[in-house]
Amino acid sequence: MDKFLIQGGISLKGRVSASGSKNAALPILMSAILSEGQNIFYRVPDLRDTRTTLSLLERLGVKVQKGEALTLSANGLCQYEAPYELVRTMRASVLILGPVLAKMHKATVSLPGGCAIGARPINLHLKAFQKMGATIEIEGGYVKAEARRLHGDKIYFDTVTVTGTENVMMAAALAKGETLIENAAREPEVFDLACVLTKMGAKIEGAGTDTIHIQGVDSLSSCEHTIMPDRIETGTWMMAVAMTKGDVEITDTDPVIVEALTRKLQEVGVSVEADSSTIHVKGPTHLKATDMTTAPYPGFATDFQPLWMALATLAEGTSVIREEIFENRFIHVGELNRMGAKIQAERDTAVVQGVKSLSGAPVMASDLRAGMALVLAGLAAHGTTTVQRVYHIDRGYEDVETKLKNLGARIERVS
Ligand code: EPU
Repeated sequence: MDKFLIQGGISLKGRVSASGSKNAALPILMSAILSEGQNIFYRVPDLRDTRTTLSLLERLGVKVQKGEALTLSANGLCQYEAPYELVRTMRASVLILGPVLAKMHKATVSLPGGCAIGARPINLHLKAFQKMGATIEIEGGYVKAEARRLHGDKIYFDTVTVTGTENVMMAAALAKGETLIENAAREPEVFDLACVLTKMGAKIEGAGTDTIHIQGVDSLSSCEHTIMPDRIETGTWMMAVAMTKGDVEITDTDPVIVEALTRKLQEVGVSVEADSSTIHVKGPTHLKATDMTTAPYPGFATDFQPLWMALATLAEGTSVIREEIFENRFIHVGELNRMGAKIQAERDTAVVQGVKSLSGAPVMASDLRAGMALVLAGLAAHGTTTVQRVYHIDRGYEDVETKLKNLGARIERVS
């Protein structure tokens, strides 16, 4: 298992380019299952999660060609099962359920089970597929879904679910008749997937809003698409710069997708200026405390919460952080406190009393974003921080140490 060794206390300076979005790439790669012909996807980030997705697709019979772009052809699709050994390493494997069920009329997917940040059930995905005519059985830890042909219906999500919206949107693209998704996720990644499906010939209106109409078609053709920039990675660099009093230009991104974070950063004293694809961030000498509550897009993303908490540990005053999306997303609190932070967390609320500085310590990543929060804390801290279980971070950040080194950080990967 790799770990990161970080010598903190250096202001990040220079330019960093945002990679393609992980959470857009995963459903988009899965959407190839629905199409006839060769799909060409550009800017697919090279991450542990995208590699897992490609292994899963290859196992189902999808032909994958790797080059500057990824070429995917599902003409040889012959399997309909996502096995436990792949699903347990990546919950987003559940995204094969919709496309495989729609295309093969049968899908068997291992139930993902709990995760470090919460129970994360998939009941809303399953309820929607049942409403669209599928029979669902849970047997031996697997979801077994069958439907001769799915039909459109009115789907209301009790809770906003990103992958739930994506799964239903993909299945509905090939269903008979019209599907209406209400209380749909408005995340930009849902919109990017809708762009891909539309290029393939799907009839979708309203993606990016909370009401999506999908008129099913009999078949979908192939498409070419460039994956949108990663908004969580973009935001991660913005917070890293703010915490290290740095001065960095983040390129190849889109300021619109990080607006909620930008507003909060400006509130705590960070300078953020942007044009269409570049964001220039300058950290202040002193950060001010402010309160923050997570919410579905366009609110403050739950994926930013651990990183924001790392930032709040260094802000003057008291910040109250509320986590509204996942029930167990404060696992990083104990690790940040080991670095000298003053955080008290109970249920969905954490109270952060800002300190003058953090001190380096050995800490352990428990999940992707919590792991990256510890890297940011290590970059800002005095002394040496060792972040263990870097494999969590490798799931979602491309070339992370190279990008940080180019900004002047002293970070090494040690096996
Ligand atoms: N939920 C249910 N039932 C369901 C589905 C969701 O109760 O059937 C609940 C969840 O337990 C949670 C809430 O609804 O409390 C929202 O979960 P959602 O389904 O939106 O999460 P997700 O689709 O599994 C995606 C991202 C996560 C991100 C969340 C929230 C992908 C591949 N993953 O997960 O990203 O935190 O949306 O924005 O898009 C990450 O990248 O590190 C990550 C965890």
